[in-house]
Amino acid sequence: MPAPAEVATVRVPVAVLPRPGLLRLEVEEKALCLAHTESGGWYAVDDTCTHEDCSLSAGALEGEAVECPCHGSCFDLATGDVLNLPAVLPLQTYPTVRDHDDIVIEVER
Ligand code: FES
Repeated sequence: MPAPAEVATVRVPVAVLPRPGLLRLEVEEKALCLAHTESGGWYAVDDTCTHEDCSLSAGALEGEAVECPCHGSCFDLATGDVLNLPAVLPLQTYPTVRDHDDIVIEVER
């Protein structure tokens, strides 16, 4: 049986990201896109688009989805699912919860 993956926890102060907003974070040698949606939701997904490697934090929020700035694919922030072409592969998502004045993100090492 494989050993359970180690998890790194990163805390980001809520105040660093206004609503709505996107922020690129470097965590455990991974580039993440932290999203704060108009409805108040917080999400963390891979920052790199699965189509051609553009940075999603340079894109735009569309409700609870992020739109890639390069060719317009949208990804569901909760599930990572692709909502429209040209991307076809989903994004990795990361558990994200609010703890008082911080957002806590868990990233497997
Ligand atoms: S790089 Fe994101 S849709 Fe093409």
